[in-house]
Amino acid sequence: MARIIGTDEQAIRTAATALAGGKLVAIPTETVYGLAADATNGDAVAGIFEAKGRPHFNPLICHVCDIAMAERYAVIDLLSRRLMDAFWPGPLTLVLPLKPDTAIHPLVAAGLDTIALRMPRGVAGKIIAALDRPLAAPSANTSGKISGTSAEAVADDLGSKIALILDAGPSEVGLESTIVKVDSAEVLLLRPGGLAAEEIEALIGDKLKRIDQRSAIEAPGMMASHYAPAAGVRLNVHEVREGEALLAFGPVRASGAHLAAASLNLSEAGNLREAAANLFDYMKRLDRLGSAVIAVEPIPFNGLGEAINDRLVRAAAPRIPSMTVEQIK
Ligand code: TXA
Ligand code: MG
Repeated sequence: MARIIGTDEQAIRTAATALAGGKLVAIPTETVYGLAADATNGDAVAGIFEAKGRPHFNPLICHVCDIAMAERYAVIDLLSRRLMDAFWPGPLTLVLPLKPDTAIHPLVAAGLDTIALRMPRGVAGKIIAALDRPLAAPSANTSGKISGTSAEAVADDLGSKIALILDAGPSEVGLESTIVKVDSAEVLLLRPGGLAAEEIEALIGDKLKRIDQRSAIEAPGMMASHYAPAAGVRLNVHEVREGEALLAFGPVRASGAHLAAASLNLSEAGNLREAAANLFDYMKRLDRLGSAVIAVEPIPFNGLGEAINDRLVRAAAPRIPSMTVEQIK
């Protein structure tokens, strides 16, 4: 079982040593917990896919401790630099041209000539600085399951597969980072996330260009059915059916709420930031109670609501198993 430690100086050294030795370490970031490996070590990066049981090699986000480290690996245009200056460290990932012949293992970018870079807040940056190498880190959860937002959730899911978990309490944001890519003068939104699109739009004085995530070209890892609890998920619910688990938002308006087998409110005050931070944890809690369906009240689409709805739509997507290697052999 994974050892769970804190985040003091000693813990940071322990984590950096384990990572330098090619081990996987679950680390807290402000968005969600990450399953981290030294991004320059191909075996360690392959271990991430193995531990997560990912069906394919999606490109991973590479975490850096400052802009200087980002410059070692990527070509940074002026607009991307402005975004970094404004929002790093924080929940924003930038997809940038990868410099040729860097130390980053090609498996991290799944062979693409671009790399997704992010500078996280908190203890993760200290670990990266101590290691002096970037960390490849997807969310710390088995592929297709809900992202881990606490050390306990990570231990439950991956504890038997990793050596070490650093516990910094519940994730502050609770949703993965927003991913953008600058394309000449336009900023493409590849994945809505913990930084609201409006905040980026306010800085650049322009609308983000939203791409169809299912076109799967810009963000090949974005499978439709991704954030999948065991229960079915019903969205925009105005009427709760007997035995369903209710995931409410704001003052409960759905009729039949008293028929719910269980209910949790993402934010009684209707605060989207609070709802984002609670989302994965509450889905997991309701899922554990064993109802066949989690009924979710409507969530507005403004601010972090865009990312919350994106995750909910994925959680509700039909579980059609994707094609396996056996089928095409
Ligand atoms: O908040 C987060 O972003 C968390 C924490 C741990 O930092 N990390 C995370 O990483 O969500 P991951 O590896 O699960 O998400 C990677 C996403 C995938 O959808 C992938 O397709 C996209 O980023 N991505 C990575 N590299 C890319 C690239 N070069 N071009 C386009 N999309 C890329
Ligand atoms: Mg994930």
